[in-house]
Amino acid sequence: MDMLKVDGLTKVYNGNVTYEALSDIHFTVEKGEFVGIMGPSGSGKTTLLNMVSTIDAPTSGEVYINGQQPFRLKKNDIAVFRRRELGFVFQDFNLLDTLTIGENIVLPLTLDTKGIRAMNRKLAEVAEKLAITDILRKRTYEVSGGQRQRAAIARAIIHSPSLLLADEPTGNLDSKSARNVMEMMADINQTDQTTTMLVTHDALAASYCHRVVFIKDGALVNEIVRGKNRQTFFQEIIDKLSLLGGVSHELSSVRFS
Ligand SMILES: Nc1ncnc2c1ncn2[C@@H]1O[C@H](COP(=O)(O)OP(=O)(O)O)[C@@H](O)[C@H]1O
Ligand SMILES: [Mg+2]
Repeated sequence: MDMLKVDGLTKVYNGNVTYEALSDIHFTVEKGEFVGIMGPSGSGKTTLLNMVSTIDAPTSGEVYINGQQPFRLKKNDIAVFRRRELGFVFQDFNLLDTLTIGENIVLPLTLDTKGIRAMNRKLAEVAEKLAITDILRKRTYEVSGGQRQRAAIARAIIHSPSLLLADEPTGNLDSKSARNVMEMMADINQTDQTTTMLVTHDALAASYCHRVVFIKDGALVNEIVRGKNRQTFFQEIIDKLSLLGGVSHELSSVRFS
């Protein structure tokens, strides 16, 4: 079953000059898949993610998520759809500093008025999954970047979304925390069959995906599928990126271990 289908997606930005940031994109993501989107800076990754996350409307084309077409819904219904069907993880964590880690994580449930007991049970479950049980009472500024991102992931999955979307989730992390976060995302994908779409320019992060789709100048260029070995996949990703061009400065700092 397709959890996500993008059909002829085109985005034109109308500024002083009009700019076609995405041109007739087609792709599907199956239920339980973990897909990475990679491409040089300015290639349209964030634009694509913003359409899939229903934050920005396409100029033409259709987005189907879990059999529904969010852009065909009424405005209020889109907000509810987004809250129920999608989970978001951002580069800069987006946690609220005035709340504890635990309060941040249950936030998506409080909006849908779940009972306290059910909320606490879900909280305990996701906290254990992300190994943050001992920091739930702390404030965001009392924990490390890696712990913050793990809390953000817990918040993104606590309502069991149809689709988990992550935009550069390792972008603000040191390499050890980045690896740890990716291991947890891969584990959640595997154990819960959480369909996941990851936008990244970090080849190591992308090597945790089942499949990586490459985009350049607003068009899909090609894709590669992972075999058994993540290290081999990592090398294949590096090779594809260097063929794409425009990312050599980003690659110079990439190392595999
Ligand atoms: N709101 C906007 N208005 C005009 N142009 C935009 C806007 N957002 C992005 N762009 C342009 O669209 C292209 C793709 O941008 P983006 O999707 O952010 O790329 P990426 O995330 O791959 O770096 C870029 O050339 C960018 O300058
Ligand atoms: Mg971007």
